[in-house]
Amino acid sequence: MSTVSETSFDSLLRENRVFPPNAEFAARAHIKTREQYDAMYRRSIEQPEEFWADAARELDWFEPWTKVLEWEQPWAKWFVGGKLNLSHNCVDRHVQGSRAQKPAIIWEGEPGEVRTLTFAELLTEVQLAASMLKEAGVQKGDRVAIYMGMCPELAIALLACARIGAVHNVIFGGFAAHALVDRINDSGCVAVLTQDGGYRRGGEVKLKPIVDEALKSCPTIRTVIVHRRTGSEVAMTPGRDFWWHELTAKASPNCLAESMDAEDPLFILYTSGTTGKPKGLVHTTGGYAVGTYLTSKYVFDLQEDDVYFCTADIGWITGHSYVVYGPLQNGATVLMYEGAPNWPEPDRFWQIIDRHKVTIFYTAPTAIRAFIKWGDEWVRKYSLASLRLLGTVGEPINPEAWMWFHREIGHERCPIADTWWQTETGGHMIAPIPGAIAAKPGSATVPFFGVDAAVVTKEGEPVPDGHGGLLIIRKPWPSMARTIYGNPERYVAAYWSEIPGAYFTGDGARRDADGYFWLMGRVDDVINVSGHRLGTAEIESALVAHPAVAEAAVVGRPDDLKGQAISAFVTLEEHVTATDDLKQELRKWVAKEIGALARPDDLRFTQTLPKTRSGKIMRRLLRELATTGEVKGDTTTLEDFTVIAKLREQDE
Ligand code: WTA
Repeated sequence: MSTVSETSFDSLLRENRVFPPNAEFAARAHIKTREQYDAMYRRSIEQPEEFWADAARELDWFEPWTKVLEWEQPWAKWFVGGKLNLSHNCVDRHVQGSRAQKPAIIWEGEPGEVRTLTFAELLTEVQLAASMLKEAGVQKGDRVAIYMGMCPELAIALLACARIGAVHNVIFGGFAAHALVDRINDSGCVAVLTQDGGYRRGGEVKLKPIVDEALKSCPTIRTVIVHRRTGSEVAMTPGRDFWWHELTAKASPNCLAESMDAEDPLFILYTSGTTGKPKGLVHTTGGYAVGTYLTSKYVFDLQEDDVYFCTADIGWITGHSYVVYGPLQNGATVLMYEGAPNWPEPDRFWQIIDRHKVTIFYTAPTAIRAFIKWGDEWVRKYSLASLRLLGTVGEPINPEAWMWFHREIGHERCPIADTWWQTETGGHMIAPIPGAIAAKPGSATVPFFGVDAAVVTKEGEPVPDGHGGLLIIRKPWPSMARTIYGNPERYVAAYWSEIPGAYFTGDGARRDADGYFWLMGRVDDVINVSGHRLGTAEIESALVAHPAVAEAAVVGRPDDLKGQAISAFVTLEEHVTATDDLKQELRKWVAKEIGALARPDDLRFTQTLPKTRSGKIMRRLLRELATTGEVKGDTTTLEDFTVIAKLREQDE
């Protein structure tokens, strides 16, 4: 087993500080003591169906389920026969209750404008957008691609799809045309929701032209609906492209929420895997609703007066579950911000927190490391007194960054919830219940309710506490992905075949004597760059698509700021000369093919790549070389021993 973050793991092994829950926080929390957590956890494992049925009853159902769980590994059905609608549970339920005039979304654009939508106003907007989709011919079960920036219309787009039973497929606004083509075609989308552009670091990021480029290769798209955000000039194709504001101006103000079966798909979200193209993970309605509802309620300890700010983009699973569906089902006020954290200055988040009296702040370790680099003076100008809880997600947090977050942002008062989970899990899996569980910097702590996590060997044998191994989940949970769109075999192979009888996470972990989990990074060929998942295979295939490239191998190496950086090793076609210009061109090429986040940090030309006798690229050696500049590991399976010497000769 190779782990990608052995150095940070060493520092985690030495970490033994414990931070008990803040008493004042615990006093008003949903779950106030360790004993209470233990009792609830025990029940969730021993009587999962009763536990989850109780949770589900806190939501509105149009028709009750007849059975909580039907499980035939790896196929799960939760709340069998139950009927509900997520947009109803996120919006209508609160308007019918006492929250009609409560802010649902407070949005701040990068240039500084602020828009607040109450739950009643959100209901109006969601109904108009849902009618707009219906009137444009989108039907229940149709797939709809959403390629937008962080503005209220993006959240409205998700909720409108959910309302009519269309399956949304959100594609992160930083992805390039090629990535759009793959995702749209793989899922056979019929429509695209997009916008002219969005603001980022003072400039406009244009989105519509990228859609236009992509749609040259997307035969299934009939309709494009464009939200006007920046007002910049865009090309509109007659008969295909429509303005959001023009369609909603004449759309019906009433659109009843469709009664969806608990197992009807809610969305597809593409994520990187070990091999091949990104996988379209399918999440269904009932289990995902209950899972994101309950994790938001307990891990963020949502209370009526909270203002909750998650810095993730809705283009990632964190945005789906913890900007939109989880907090809104809880009736929380969600703060959305459009732009960069350091625009116009590196204090933008702290300004936002003070301005809107944010109480819960959920971000990524990579962002925290950037804040540290920018300097404490940007933070200390602000009171941050409204904050009561902090959270992190996306990668292991190094204890130093944890301590800084605790001290400078949390003022040693706010608990920190380090939440471990995945696109596949839909919601938090290992995370502290902040009023009940003591934190240890660098550990995601203990499993959430119903999560039966374990650390095992490759053969599935338990690993003793204190030792590293593979992280698996042994029981089904409601918000688990149900399949990979159009490819159930790949779902079985990727997640349910590696370790007998369990879900394999792809992560390495260690459990300590207190039952706390310490995540050690991916054990496969997935790279985690600034908390974003990228498959080495995707970047490699982008590189070999360039006419100058014969072969490419990509590995991750530790990076102080981004967690991991991308190192590419490239062999060129016979006639091509290796030049610095070509290096730059190839890095740009990858950014153009996939998106800026996939651009290799360093790229080396080499005459050959290290391979085993069976022709497999030995990434382990490349990883070592990229990290330390040397290869000391076992090279006995190398087909050609001179390769390593040749590789070392290549300068950076
Ligand atoms: C990593 C993001 C350590 C992990 C929600 C996982 C983490 C992958 C943590 C999923 C954490 C996420 N501590 N590692 N708190 N959170 N990861 O699908 O490697 O984008 O497998 O979901 O991120 O990334 P994904």
